[in-house]
Formats: sequence, structure tokens, C-alpha cells
Amino acid sequence: MKILGLNFGRVKGECRKYLDIALQAAQDDGAEVELINTINLNISRCIGCGACSRNSREKGQQIRCVVKDDYQMVLDAILDADSIIVAAPVYVLAPTGQLKNLTDRIGPAHDRAAVVKEYYKRVDPVPDPADPRFLKQRDECGIVEPLDPRVLKKWKVAYISVGGARDHHWVSLGLLQMKFFGFPLNMHLVDELDIHGAHGDSPRVQMFRQRAAVLGHNMAAALGKHPRDIAFCGDDLGICPTCHGRMITVTRGTKVECPLCGITGQLSIVDGQIKVSFPLHEQDRSRLAFGGLLEHTNYGNLVSPPRQ
Ligand SMILES: Cc1cc2nc3c(=O)[nH]c(=O)nc-3n(C[C@H](O)[C@H](O)[C@H](O)COP(=O)(O)O)c2cc1C
Repeated sequence: MKILGLNFGRVKGECRKYLDIALQAAQDDGAEVELINTINLNISRCIGCGACSRNSREKGQQIRCVVKDDYQMVLDAILDADSIIVAAPVYVLAPTGQLKNLTDRIGPAHDRAAVVKEYYKRVDPVPDPADPRFLKQRDECGIVEPLDPRVLKKWKVAYISVGGARDHHWVSLGLLQMKFFGFPLNMHLVDELDIHGAHGDSPRVQMFRQRAAVLGHNMAAALGKHPRDIAFCGDDLGICPTCHGRMITVTRGTKVECPLCGITGQLSIVDGQIKVSFPLHEQDRSRLAFGGLLEHTNYGNLVSPPRQ
């Protein structure tokens, strides 16, 4: 069982320090760990050619990006791992662009709902070309190659966002946007850390270091477990029950939406406090849940139920 640490900060920077602590804690608990520093890698942006989806879903090939750079190596490491810890610095209120480049390259092509559909399409029974009286799996007949089984893994993920600023409003989109990385692959969110205002050897730094070790232990403990048996370990349950974010979009009247999950909820004032509730049927439609991904994949041939 392997935990991969992806560092998007400097090689000897703050993200790396917290990530090292988390990986060491996980290793102490018996996990195999690997670290990739991405800062000097060449992960260029997605050029939107659509080849990765076209080749796999129409031509029956593997999910392959045609842009040749370091992306392939990072993707392989992700596919080989069972859990991922991503650490990224906040640049201009949001995670550094290198993480977005990777997310754009990997995410849409590996969207779990689309991948699951394609995987099972390839094992559909069809008449065996050698003896049409019998059925054989489509991929066994050589009609299409089986999809790399690693794409069906159910990864667990944790995020460490690190900003240099003192106040939270200078890191406001950091942690939230990091979660773009895991949602298309339907990674199960285990833990998160939103670090800011921690400098030198201050008590706050000590506190975050200890918390990074706890995050590593939590990730090790989650290895091999079914997601339903893993409680979210983050310190803040947030407002949205599926991504645990605190950001909401007020759409109309008292209707609100989670910008990350896409689910609709209701805002009210109870005893002078703002209360936001998201009904269970909406939570099932979250982009972080398989149901939400499936709804998006089926846009073309399904009329989705109207939003409440
Ligand atoms: C271009 C740039 C933009 C930054 N913008 C922010 C910001 O908006 N908010 C913040 O808290 N820190 C910001 N920082 C500081 C970094 O988040 C901080 O130095 C962090 O520790 C860098 O991670 P690293 O040490 O792992 O490389 C910025 C740094 C750079 C280089």
C-alpha cells in the first residue's frame, strides 16, 4: 500500500517540510511512501485537443495524453499509488498553476464515471469471432484492449495548503481549489490542512507540524479501508457536507450552491446565526460523489432531474 506525496512548493520550501512530516508518520505506521517534487518538472498545460478522451472512448485505446513531457511520469506514479497527499503553496490566493496544469491534464480524461462506463463496455459479451455460437468478452476477442485496471482505483487523498500570509483571507481559495485535483477521479477526501501565518519556530509552526504528522497517520490508517469506514479527519467540517468548504454562492432568494460540489442548499437565519442546509438527495449529486460525476457524464443522453 503506497502513499504518494506530490509537492508543488519549492524543493526545500514549507510545503515540502510539512509533506515530509506527514510521509514520515505514514511510513512509521508501515505505509510505503514516495515523494515527487514537481516544481522543476515540465508539466505543460492541457491543449484541449481531446485526444485522450477520443482515443479511449471512441477508438478503444488507453487514456493517453499526446503532449510529451513529465506528465506521464507523474500520472504513472498516481496510478501506482493507493493514496495521495498533495501539498501546494498559495500563489495569488489560489494554488500554484502547476497543480492546475496537472489537474487539467489528468482530471477530465480520467473522470471516474466515464472511465467506469468505458471499462465495462470493453468487457461486454460479444459473439466470439472464432466461434460465433459462443459469447466472449469484447476485450478478450481483441476488438478493444482492456483499459489499464489502475484507472479504477479508489484513491484516498489529503491536501496541505501553505500560504505565507498572516490572515486567512489571503489564502481563501488555496485549500478549496486544491480539491479540483481529486474530484474527477472520485478520490476519497480523508484529511486537509490549511496552513497560514506560520513562520520561523513559532508555536503555530509547532502546532501545524504536529498536525501534519497526524494527517500522515490518518492517511496510513485509511489505506485499504472502504471509504464508508473512513470518517473525515479535517479540523473544520465546513459548511458544505461533501467538500467541507466554507464558500457558497447565493444563487437566488435563499438558494445557495457549493461552487466546488455544485449542490444546491437553503440558507436561513436561526437564532441570529446563518444556517445552510443541503438535502441528502443533493449531497448524492455532489461532484465529489460518483452520482454527481455520473450525472455529468450522462448529460448527453439523460434528462437530469430539475434542481430543487
Ligand atoms: C507568486 C507568489 C504569490 C504568492 N501569493 C500568496 C498569497 O496570495 N497568499 C499567501 O498567503 N501567500 C502567498 N505567497 C507566499 C507563498 O504561499 C509561501 O511563501 C509558501 O510558503 C510557498 O511555499 P513553498 O515554501 O513550499 O515554496 C506567494 C508567493 C509567491 C511566490
